[in-house]
Amino acid sequence: MTVVKTINEVRQFVKEARLKGMTIGFVPTMGFLHEGHLSLMREAKAQTDYVVVSIFVNPTQFGPTEDLATYPRDLPRDQMLCESVGVDLIFAPEVDEMYPAGHSTIVDCEGPITKQLCGASRPTHFKGVTSVVAKLFNITLPDKAFFGQKDAQQVAVIEKMVKELNFDVEIVPCPIVREEDGLAMSSRNSYLDAEARRQALVLSQSLNAAKASIDAGETRVSELIALIRETIQQAPMAEIDYVQIVDATTLLAIDELNDDTLIALAVKFGKTRLIDNLRIRRR
Ligand code: PAF
Repeated sequence: MTVVKTINEVRQFVKEARLKGMTIGFVPTMGFLHEGHLSLMREAKAQTDYVVVSIFVNPTQFGPTEDLATYPRDLPRDQMLCESVGVDLIFAPEVDEMYPAGHSTIVDCEGPITKQLCGASRPTHFKGVTSVVAKLFNITLPDKAFFGQKDAQQVAVIEKMVKELNFDVEIVPCPIVREEDGLAMSSRNSYLDAEARRQALVLSQSLNAAKASIDAGETRVSELIALIRETIQQAPMAEIDYVQIVDATTLLAIDELNDDTLIALAVKFGKTRLIDNLRIRRR
């Protein structure tokens, strides 16, 4: 496994792999890796020949009052984990390699897809994500890029960007990876103290309650949202940011479950904001 910090080096290694006839898989991350990230890398390894992982805490996707400064970082540990799943190349640039002085070009996916759900409370987040992911795609030129379905809105926005800007890359969404007790894995889980960690289980419990209700025949969005909110509110520390049920592709609100629905929620425990979701596909 090779670790590089510059765009030129990535280009060189990727070019050499291509000359050998290899396909390129790409897993973008902000580091502090967990089993969720490793599952993306394993999938990339299974589907492509040469796997590139980026580790970059992207400043442009954090709002002014968010956790950029405290976002957990541990590059030596991340390197070991990448090596353990057979990653070929790590790209771990400094901020000025990605955003040299005077950098001012952004990629912004406009419209409701980035304005609601997480976009409502993080208004500049998605343009930071699309800008950095567009740059990373141009740097790594992957055949396939692997993203976790835990960030369902991010996946929908990136799929739209790829389609509309004609990037020649296939987006591969991968399933949410959960702790044994159901909490969706996230680097931000490390912020939770023991009590908040215990109470955070209401997120997956509320989605399970919604799933059980749907399996029993419920299709009304208002009823399902009420059930989810009620379950979450059983945790005294939980402060709901949103609970929404939307069309999984457009992310527009719906009144009744449709063929492909996304139940998405964001809840704060103290300063830590956690997200989770459930995709419901029906015939
Ligand atoms: O999902 C993330 O970790 C980030 O949003 C990404 C895709 C690496 C862009 O910085």
